[in-house]
Amino acid sequence: MTDNSPAPSRRSLLAVGGAGLALGAAAAGGAVALARSDDGADMQPAAESGGAVPFHGAHQAGIATAVQDRLHFAAFDVKTEDREEFVQLLKDWTKAAALMAEGRPVGEGAFGGLAEAPPDDTGEALGLKPSRLTLTIGFGPSLFEKYGKAFGIADRRPAALVELPRFPGDNLERTRSGGDLCVQACADDPQVAVHAIRNLARIGFGKVAIRWSQLGFGKTSSTTPDAQTPRNLMGFKDGTRNIAGTDTARLDRHVWVTDKDTGKDAAWMAGGSYLVARRIRMNIETWDRTSLQEQEDVFGRDKGEGAPVGKAKERDEPFLKAMKPDAHVRLAHPDSNDGATILRRGYSFTDGTDGLGRLDAGLFFLAYQKDVRKGFIPVQRALSAHDALNEYIQHVGSAVFAVPPGVRDASDWWGRGLFAAKDV
Ligand code: HEM
Repeated sequence: MTDNSPAPSRRSLLAVGGAGLALGAAAAGGAVALARSDDGADMQPAAESGGAVPFHGAHQAGIATAVQDRLHFAAFDVKTEDREEFVQLLKDWTKAAALMAEGRPVGEGAFGGLAEAPPDDTGEALGLKPSRLTLTIGFGPSLFEKYGKAFGIADRRPAALVELPRFPGDNLERTRSGGDLCVQACADDPQVAVHAIRNLARIGFGKVAIRWSQLGFGKTSSTTPDAQTPRNLMGFKDGTRNIAGTDTARLDRHVWVTDKDTGKDAAWMAGGSYLVARRIRMNIETWDRTSLQEQEDVFGRDKGEGAPVGKAKERDEPFLKAMKPDAHVRLAHPDSNDGATILRRGYSFTDGTDGLGRLDAGLFFLAYQKDVRKGFIPVQRALSAHDALNEYIQHVGSAVFAVPPGVRDASDWWGRGLFAAKDV
């Protein structure tokens, strides 16, 4: 990638390209700059779907950020053993990600450059708004296992970056699991999210290759409690009792890694988080033939309002003992798991059919936490053993990633702390 700054915004490029849009500087890019709190959580209103989410901050955007409508998630395998080449890729990716988050094309753009060379940007996002695009990178356990020595990072693997245990009922497909790296692209426009992953993959050609990817729609969790709670493909409100993106106290307690949580060698993770991704297939045909009473018993909430059993309103405090012992909410609640609390950020998916007359549909579950050993693992142990929902779902993909802290400014880059010289 070529470093040229400042790159023209998508809209101003269109104007230059003769699309006839007489846009003034104020209109160029269509981006609404949004405030960020001191700790880097962006506080933008969820309804502002055309605006830009600040890329730089103490934490990576895309975690506490009000959940966007669409997802393109990609896991990558690393294809080089050359440390310098890999570090350069991370720097190039960071630059490209910062531009795309502003709604600008990568490098010199999609046209107007050298006629003999492929353009720096693939072009399909020209004219589209930034759409609150966030790009969030993570490093998988296999990066340290396979390339730890070559990259000089073997002794920097955080103790918290554990492989997930096998849970009862898991039916994991290798081709939908794992990954040395991941990038989560969220945006309110699916084409903006897909464009971002595609361009990162293009920049990474020869150095990384996509291992698997997942498109998501219809966010199934909300980090904005004031907004209407979205529904999952089972028709239930999902994300009612989630951590709000503005609740800095709970984010600090359950999501962001602090100096105190890391060993000396994993100090680079301070300000980061850990991500668990699970592709959970729903047997929606069976679910759709299940009585309403059974459906509500499975979750421990009613379908219309989303209120917990025995309560009137969605936000009423659940009384767990009023629910069936195997109700999903009863088993997943922090009170049933020694306080284990995660931030959920999943999306629905439908990927065609399974060839047996059923939709390949479900929930692409994404959860952030400061330690998977105290977050996802204990909760999923309880759910996989007892959850009534298990009759209607199957976990078919799984991955875990260490998500480093935010990129502070234009001189910083994704993973800088991990790759910093030992004496720094
Ligand atoms: C297809 C699979 C799943 C579906 C359809 C589903 C659906 C739901 C629904 C409808 C709720 C109630 C509303 C809410 O508070 O969000 C809920 C709550 C919750 N779920 Fe799930 N869920 C699934 C998988 C999981 C998994 C794998 C985990 C973690 C291992 C999990 C953890 C939680 C937690 C922590 C709560 C909130 C409990 C509380 O504090 O009341 N869910 N889920």
